[in-house]
Amino acid sequence: MTPSEKDDHLTALCREVLEAFDAVNGGVQAGYRPAHAKGIMLSGTFTPAPGAKNLSCAPHLGRASTPVSVRFSDFAGIPTIPDNNSNASPRGFAVRFHLEGEAYTDIVGHSTDGFPAATAQELAAFLRAIAASGLNAAKPTPIESYLATHPAALEFVQAPKPFPSSFAKESFFGVNAYKFINATGAARFGRYRIRPEGGGDYLSSEAAATKSPNYLIDEIKERVAKGPVKMHIFVQLAEPGDIVDDSTKHWPANRSEVEFGTIALTAVQPNNEAAQRELITDPIPKVDGIEVSGDPLTEPRSAVYLMAGRRRAAK
Ligand code: HEM
Repeated sequence: MTPSEKDDHLTALCREVLEAFDAVNGGVQAGYRPAHAKGIMLSGTFTPAPGAKNLSCAPHLGRASTPVSVRFSDFAGIPTIPDNNSNASPRGFAVRFHLEGEAYTDIVGHSTDGFPAATAQELAAFLRAIAASGLNAAKPTPIESYLATHPAALEFVQAPKPFPSSFAKESFFGVNAYKFINATGAARFGRYRIRPEGGGDYLSSEAAATKSPNYLIDEIKERVAKGPVKMHIFVQLAEPGDIVDDSTKHWPANRSEVEFGTIALTAVQPNNEAAQRELITDPIPKVDGIEVSGDPLTEPRSAVYLMAGRRRAAK
């Protein structure tokens, strides 16, 4: 493929994915993300862990602290989704590290350790099957047939997704692997994991049902007003032979982790709706010392976020 054919192919794929999300959402939700539409943005600082420089020479690991913006979100592409609706899971966690000048880099994770598709084409097919499986769909519904032949999607759908008591009591997973390179050129593949200070805390389904539709958004505002909200970032390290270019493949649970650093959130950002609309996250790292791993999801993921962000800005 020539570079221009590759661009055309990527653009067509992004449109296909966006249309599939729109179909699930019952149409375009103008001005909002087609996934993770409802959220809240906070600001704070990132402090690297003392040993993190051994993993990567990325600039935010080499300075004492870096300002960050964090967006917590519910999964659905519906901006009014109740926080206690099952389609609000997995939750999202997107962090932007504000580096020197206009430079930045992001980590975007969600609260399920895994993904339903190994490629963007597969993700679009999965979403189309969901969209075609409304109340009146004949049995087996398209999504039932899809799940019967796609074990990774079935595993993702069946993964427990309990309701957290707070966005600050949930764990998040970057899912895509990245290549971390330190100042000596030594490289390791790894996956981000984000854990709350003090561990997770979840509600029973009965308790969640009694919560208000904005319980997570309201709670995080109250929590951050009382003091810093801390989240710890780790990197799970791959060993030689682990698959680093397929997000549906888990690595053995005993793989070691290194501490990357800690985020302390101190305030809700002003003009929150506008700040959320403007933020276009990028899962492709924009710094030395962290690179993509060859996972075929990462490039279309980045391109879709940009296309969706431009559409959101144009409304
Ligand atoms: C690999 C694992 C993935 C995770 C953990 C993930 C998680 C997230 C999160 C947390 C957001 C909200 C970001 C924000 O707050 O700004 C988001 C947005 C979105 N995701 Fe993903 N995602 C993944 C892969 C993908 C892929 C492969 C696609 C499609 C190719 C996709 C499509 C979307 C779209 C269309 C949005 C809305 C983008 C925007 O307008 O900002 N995601 N995702």
